[in-house]
Amino acid sequence: MKVLVTGGAGYIGTHLCVELLENGYEIVVIDNFSTSTLEGLRRVREITGKSFHVYYVNLLDKKNLKKVFSLHQIDSVIHLAGYKSVRESTSDPMKYYRNNIEGTMTLCEVMQEFNVTSLVFSSSATVYAPVEKYEAISEKHPLGPTNPYGHTKRLIEEMLRDIFDSNTDWCIRILRYFNPVGAHKSGLIGENPKGIPANLFPYLSKVVVGKLPALFIYGDDYPTPDGTGIRDYIHVTDLAKGHLYALHNLSSSSGVNVYNLGTGKGYSVFEMLREFESVTGKIIPYLIAPRRKGDVAFSFADVSKAKEELGWEATRGIDSMCHDAWKWQRNNPNGYELTRIKPLKKEVMSYDWL
Ligand SMILES: NC(=O)c1ccc[n+]([C@@H]2O[C@H](COP(=O)([O-])OP(=O)(O)OC[C@H]3O[C@@H](n4cnc5c(N)ncnc54)[C@H](O)[C@@H]3O)[C@@H](O)[C@H]2O)c1
Repeated sequence: MKVLVTGGAGYIGTHLCVELLENGYEIVVIDNFSTSTLEGLRRVREITGKSFHVYYVNLLDKKNLKKVFSLHQIDSVIHLAGYKSVRESTSDPMKYYRNNIEGTMTLCEVMQEFNVTSLVFSSSATVYAPVEKYEAISEKHPLGPTNPYGHTKRLIEEMLRDIFDSNTDWCIRILRYFNPVGAHKSGLIGENPKGIPANLFPYLSKVVVGKLPALFIYGDDYPTPDGTGIRDYIHVTDLAKGHLYALHNLSSSSGVNVYNLGTGKGYSVFEMLREFESVTGKIIPYLIAPRRKGDVAFSFADVSKAKEELGWEATRGIDSMCHDAWKWQRNNPNGYELTRIKPLKKEVMSYDWL
């Protein structure tokens, strides 16, 4: 089975490529390396010992996207490509609407043209309306994103439903990720944000290695046991494996099905900080800052639907999340930066050497 992975060079994409290759799938990756580097994919090859095709294509570039579809008989698409920073989306919403929505529209048009109607889409828990009381969020929870990034994900979900209504051949699985963290157990691939990290784990790692002075904890007066926000952190390898179950499920029926991917357990910022301290053996300095607009007290998934219908559940705990994140950081203090390979500027650049 041949799977096209959009955004395969990114944090989740590289981990997904490893799982796909190790489970016998053939893969084709397209990416424009806007937030990633080719080095991550080179390491995917190093981990798996398997070759695959990589195309340097922007999803909005229909002509070149069509070239990729004409070169390969694609069975299914896993669509991860997109921008994901809540903060940046608030300051530059148009960049997010253009890339995330137009990119998905172009992809779906090309898929339909080539009769490829199997799609797994990366959505996010940010599509949910903030929860009022301490309870797990099921897929039936009302939607109500509070930032432009979340709006783009919600609009794409609606667009995918409309696409299915117009052509019932489509098999679509929407995966709403909670908080992916950690890294591959090899320590070769991991999260590689540009600039100051927006997410807790890369930030914690940078504080531990002294690249940042202290962790900012936004709010310690939430109605949670220790006052800090509670989130559902999921190991990126568990998350990646969830896609394989969704892929398998595509063949069971057409239609649009939505699944939460989380562990179902919430941990506070303080709990994660203490776990990180115990794994690294270092004291992590922190500062309490005011709450951030749009942040909620708690968010954790009801994962029963994914368990019942996909047969998938996360198995890795916060110890291995912290351990693997730390191994990645320790082995790669500068991320992929030192070994960055610049993609050549060509129309459709194929890295067949991978
Ligand atoms: N990491 C998270 O915390 C998280 C949480 C929920 C949902 N998601 C979603 O998961 C997906 C993957 O996230 P990630 O953490 O791996 O992010 P990432 O930034 O590491 O990876 C995204 C990849 O998409 C590529 N890309 C972006 N726009 C493109 C375009 N127009 N054409 C081709 N390639 C393009 C980037 O170069 C990058 O390689 C995203 O859709 C994101 O919204 C991520």
